Formats: sequence, C-alpha cells, structure tokens
Amino acid sequence: MTHKPLLATVRGEKQSRPALWIMRQAGRYLPEYRAVRAETKNFLELCYSPDLATEVTLQPLRRFDLDAAILFSDILVIPDALGQSVHFAAGEGPMLEPVSAENIAGLGKDRDPLEHLAPVLETVRRLRAALAPEKTLIGFCGSPWTVATYMIGGRGSSDQAAARLFALRHPKAFEALIDILVETSINYLVAQFEAGADVVQLFESWALNLDDVSFTANVIEPNRRIIEGVRARVPNAPIIGFPRGAAGNLARYAAATGVNALGIDYATPLEFAANLPKHLPLQGNLDPLRLVAGGAQLDERVDAIVEAFSDRPHIFNLGHGIVPETPIEHVEQLVRRVKG
Ligand code: CP3
Repeated sequence: MTHKPLLATVRGEKQSRPALWIMRQAGRYLPEYRAVRAETKNFLELCYSPDLATEVTLQPLRRFDLDAAILFSDILVIPDALGQSVHFAAGEGPMLEPVSAENIAGLGKDRDPLEHLAPVLETVRRLRAALAPEKTLIGFCGSPWTVATYMIGGRGSSDQAAARLFALRHPKAFEALIDILVETSINYLVAQFEAGADVVQLFESWALNLDDVSFTANVIEPNRRIIEGVRARVPNAPIIGFPRGAAGNLARYAAATGVNALGIDYATPLEFAANLPKHLPLQGNLDPLRLVAGGAQLDERVDAIVEAFSDRPHIFNLGHGIVPETPIEHVEQLVRRVKG
C-alpha cells in the first residue's frame, strides 16, 4: 500500500516533516469555492450534491501541497438528517428550529438518517476514486455536545448557555438527545469508513465553558462511546479528536476517549501541549489570524510549533478554521514553511 504520511502520523509514526492539512481548507477564502457556491441556492444543497461537493473538496489540493482532503459537508447535516429544520442564512451562520424537551424523543423516528445522508457517502466514494494514493481522505462528524449546542440553542453562541442550562434542567431529555446523536454518529462514521475514508475527525468545537463534571458527561463520555461503537465495527479505526477549548481537560479527554490523535486549539500553550504523553500524535495549532496577517511573524510561529512537537508524531494544522479573509499567498507561505 502507498505510504500516506498523514494516516501514518495518526497511527503514531513520526515523519521527517509534519504532515499538513488546514482546518476548513475548502471554503470562502478560495475564489473557486465562491464560484461554485454562487451557483447553489443554499449551503446544504452544496453538501448534498456529490458532483459539487467532490469538486470543492479537491480545490485546495490543486493549489497547495496538502497531505489530506477533508470531505466537504458540515456538522449540521446530522440534525438535518434527524428531521430538525436547519438553514444557513447568508452572513448569519446556521439557524435551527430549537428542539424542546418534548420533541427530542421523536427525532429521527420517521426516517432513516443514513438514507438522507446517502449523497454525502456518495461524495466519499467519489473522493476515494479521485484522490492520489498518498493523500489521506478525512471524514468527520460533529461531536454530540457541539451538535446539541446548535440543536438546543438554535444557533451558535459564545457561551452555549442555552444548552448548558438545558442539560442541567432537563437531564433525562438531554441524555436522550445525546443517545440519539451517539447512535447516529456511529452509523454515519462507519458508513464513511465503508465508503473509503482513511481517518475521521470528531469536531468538538464547543468543548469550552464546561466544568469538570459536565465536561466528563457531555464531552468525554459521548466521544468515548462513539469511538468504542465505531471500532466495534471498523477494528482499529483511526480517529482524531478535536476538543476545542478543552485546556486542562485535554490529557483526560485523550486518555479516556481513546482517540489516536489529539487536535489542539491555538490558545493551548506550546509548552503545555509538548508535555502531553509523547506517544500521543498532536494536530495543530496555528492561530488562523496569524495566517491572515502573514509576514515574518507567520514564519516564526510556524517554526516554533514545528520545533515544539519535533519529538513526536505531529500533524501541522491551524488551531481552528481558516477564515474567509485569508490571503492565498499566506497559505502558500505556510505550506512552503512547513514542508521545508
Ligand atoms: O474544508 C472543510 O473543512 C469543509 C467542510 C466543513 C465545513 N464545515 C464547511 C462549511 C467542515 C469540516 C465544517 C465543520 C463545522 N461546521 C464545524 C466544526 C469546525 C469549527 O469551525 O469549529 C462547525 C462548528 C460547523 C457549523 C457551521 N457551518 C457554522 C458555524 C457555519 C457558518 C460560519 C462558518 O464558520 O463558516 C457553517 C457554514 C459552513 N460550513 C461554510 C463552509 C464552507 C460556509 C458557508 C457558505 O459557504 O455559505
């Protein structure tokens, strides 16, 4: 089998230079993405069109020497597949009809979520066929807590107060929601592996703002159950966890969930991350705004990150998603610097 540097890194093999991909690498900073997006009525239609989703997934790899393609889709296709109303309003981000303690039990009851997600799985199959053998194909889903914050709050929020309060006030309904998301995510990720994904990433983008008891219940346990459930059907399935904002909970998250590799956000100090268990592959963690600003500070920080993780398996990445304002020349500068 052809050597895939990124997959090998997830599996724990240190490479001579870090493997590289860019979180949210297909997106609005690319003019060719904006051109495809302009032809679609709404964002979900793009996610459910295998032709277009395959095309935009491959766009960043045509420009940059990246080691992976990440399936073009969104974490909110799961609530959509469960029958919740999901819309992406231009400039507003996602808008959902919030779930209530009463209607949670009915989610996904009258339908097969995987049938709804069939076009996304078709995109995975096409990507598998189109990608060069040394490229790693990354599938993904949102972790249950992060997806639940949107399902309960109806939109993104800076403190997730609606979901945190809901979990404390309606523990039974919250548990039922997490159970539905765990089960659906297992089925969805197994289907992505079967369609040709090499690795999957669990996006826990809202792992911040939780006390340690809630972090265990809302973040660690659901992620652990998904990983256990996926590996029961796909033995040794390689999985990256990205608990953004986990801070002092990072080591505990990695040990308890069984992720192969740990994504770290840009607010995690390099010295702290470097002290995480050495066998653990790390992914990260450049501040996306450093990529917007460019110049000498970008090279200096890239070098510092590469150096900090030079004694372990490391996947170079941003510490959160690339932003639409990012100049393409700065991405080229980053790739040159990481690839040496
Ligand atoms: O290259 C890729 O990574 C593309 C696939 C991808 C998208 N979203 C496409 C997208 C992935 C992996 C995601 C993950 C995602 N979606 C997360 C986790 C990562 C993170 O950033 O924390 C979250 C929280 C979402 C939910 C979401 N989707 C939001 C908050 C928004 C609006 C604001 C934003 O960040 O762009 C989206 C829309 C979205 N998802 C866009 C893209 C390219 C932009 C919409 C458009 O083009 O109209």
